[in-house]
Amino acid sequence: MHVDQERCQGHNRCSAIAPDLFEIDDYGTAHAVGDGTVPEGRERAARLAVDNCPEYAVSISDDRAEETRQ
Ligand code: F3S
Repeated sequence: MHVDQERCQGHNRCSAIAPDLFEIDDYGTAHAVGDGTVPEGRERAARLAVDNCPEYAVSISDDRAEETRQ
């Protein structure tokens, strides 16, 4: 999972949905926690974050997550 720093406008919906998957820096910009790997069982939350970002800043490139994007 990845947050596009150019697109993120700090809406913070991602961290509200999945505070364990996103951290917000001092500028209000979101980053994926750790290396961006979505823990097992949190794919749905990650997908929700993708769908809820108004700037389309959150993306998932993992094959396994692709399957759940339907
Ligand atoms: Fe940024 Fe979107 Fe989250 S704008 S703070 S990635 S909801």
